[in-house]
Amino acid sequence: MSWWHDAVFYEIYVRSFADSNGDGVGDLEGIRARLPYLRELGVDAIWLTPFYPSPGADHGYDVSDYVDVDPLFGTLDDFDALVRDAHALDLRVIADIVPNHSSREHPWFRRALAHPSGPDRARYVFRPGRGDGPPNNWPSNWGGPAWTKDEASGEWYLHLFAPEQPDLDWHTKQVRDDFDDILRFWLARGIDGFRIDVAAALYKDATLADELEPFPESKFSTDWRRAVDQPEVHDVYRNWRRMTGDEKVLVGEVVFSDPARMTPYLRDDELHMAFNFTLLFQAWNADGIRDAIDRSIAALADVAAPPTWVLENHDVTRLPTRYGGGAEGLRRARAAALLLLALPGPAFLYQGQELGLEEVDLPDEVRQDPIFHRMKGVRKGRDGCRVPLPWENGPPGFGFTTGEPWLPIPAEWTEKTVERQRADAQSVLALYEQALAERPTGDFAWRESPRGTLVFTRGELTCAVNVDGGPLPLEGNAVVASEPMSRLLPPGAAVWLE
Ligand code: GLC
Repeated sequence: MSWWHDAVFYEIYVRSFADSNGDGVGDLEGIRARLPYLRELGVDAIWLTPFYPSPGADHGYDVSDYVDVDPLFGTLDDFDALVRDAHALDLRVIADIVPNHSSREHPWFRRALAHPSGPDRARYVFRPGRGDGPPNNWPSNWGGPAWTKDEASGEWYLHLFAPEQPDLDWHTKQVRDDFDDILRFWLARGIDGFRIDVAAALYKDATLADELEPFPESKFSTDWRRAVDQPEVHDVYRNWRRMTGDEKVLVGEVVFSDPARMTPYLRDDELHMAFNFTLLFQAWNADGIRDAIDRSIAALADVAAPPTWVLENHDVTRLPTRYGGGAEGLRRARAAALLLLALPGPAFLYQGQELGLEEVDLPDEVRQDPIFHRMKGVRKGRDGCRVPLPWENGPPGFGFTTGEPWLPIPAEWTEKTVERQRADAQSVLALYEQALAERPTGDFAWRESPRGTLVFTRGELTCAVNVDGGPLPLEGNAVVASEPMSRLLPPGAAVWLE
C-alpha cells in the first residue's frame, strides 16, 4: 500500500486560506505560516487550487502561464519554500493542473487569434459557424453557448466554461507535449502529484456532433454531455502515470453520477484516484448513503484504485447548509465527518469543513463567481463556500488578513474561529482532530442494523451512524462521538466504538 491509499487530503482554496501581505487575498506565504495548523489537525496532504498567473476570470482556473506563480500569490521561491516546509512536517503537496482550457490571455491563445493561419491556432478549437450561429448546439456549463465568435476571422472558438477559458484541442500533439513539459516542471520542483481539473473533458467528440436537447438544469455532473469522456483521453493518463510512478499521484476530477463511469480512468496504469462525488450528491438519508457507498466500492472491484470520499469542495454549497442548516444541519455534518473518515480509502476535506462553516449568503454586489454573472443570478454561484477562513479575533480580518478580505467574513464567525474552537473540547475542530488521530484502518464490512441507521466495522473499530432511525442502543466504548451521548445513539449522530 502506498501512502495515498488511505490518506486524508485537505483542499486549500488559495485565495481564502491565509493572507500574509494584507492585500485581502490569500497567498503561498500565508499557507506556509499556517502549515503547523494542518500538521496538528492531522491531515496527510494538501491540495492547492491554481496559483498560476491568471487574469482571474475564474479565480485561477483560467491560467495564462502554467509554469509560474501569480504575483498575487507569491513567487516560485515562495512555492519552493512552501513545499520544503510542508515536507519537513511530513505533509505532501499536490497542485491543481488545468489542462482542459487556458486563459484567453495565455500567449498561445493571443497568438492563435493574431495569426489564424499560424501554428497556435490548432491548439484551440476554432471552427466556422453554421449559418449565422455557432458550429453546433453545445451549451457552456455556465449558461449560453459554448462558442464565442472571433470577429476578426469570423470563426468561433469553443469554451465549455466561460469565454475567458478557451478549450485546448487535445487532438493536437503540441498541446500534449506542452503538458508533458508542464508536469515535468512541477515534478522537478518536488510536487507530490496533481489534481486534474475537468479530467474527463480534454478530448471532445471529433465530429462535434450536436448534444441531445433539452439540456439539464443542474450541470455539475457531466453525465449528459456526449461530447466528453472520449477514449483518446486514456492515453494521456497512461503517459502521465509513467511520469509520476506510484508515489506521486494523479487525482482526476471525473464527475459522473454513476461511479462505474469513473472506473476506466482508474485502471492500474492510469489515474491513481478520482474524486467520487456520490456522497456529496447524496441527501441525509440512510438508504441513499448506504447505496452510494456500495456503488462506489463495487465500481472499483476490478481495479487496484481505492474509492475516494468527498463531502465538500470549492464548487459546492457547504455541508451543514446542504443538510438543512442551523443546529440540525451542523449536527448532521458532524455525524457525517465520522462517516467520511471511517470509510476505506482516501478522504478529501475542504478548508473550513473542519470548522463546520455554513454557506454564506452574500449580497449580490460582492459576488465574483462567473457563474453568478453569466447566469444573471439564476444560479448564485460558489462565492458562499469561498469566504476566507476565520482564524482569530473578529471582523473584518479575522486573522485571515490585516486588510479587507476579498469577500466579507460574517461577523457571527467570531464564534467559529480556529482560536475559539481550539479552546472548546466540543467544537467541530476538536471532533476532526480526534477523528483524524483515531482514524481506523483494516477491512470494511457492513453490520446489520435497524432502518435509518448505518453500522460497519473497519478492523477493530465499529462506526455507527444514526441517520434518521430510532434511538440506536450502543455496545462498546466510544472512541470518538459526534456529540455527547448516553448508551443510545440519537438520529443525526455518529460514534466510533471499540
Ligand atoms: C472545475 C473546478 C471549478 C472550475 C472549473 C473550470 O470544475 O473545480 O472550480 O470553475 O473546473 O475550470
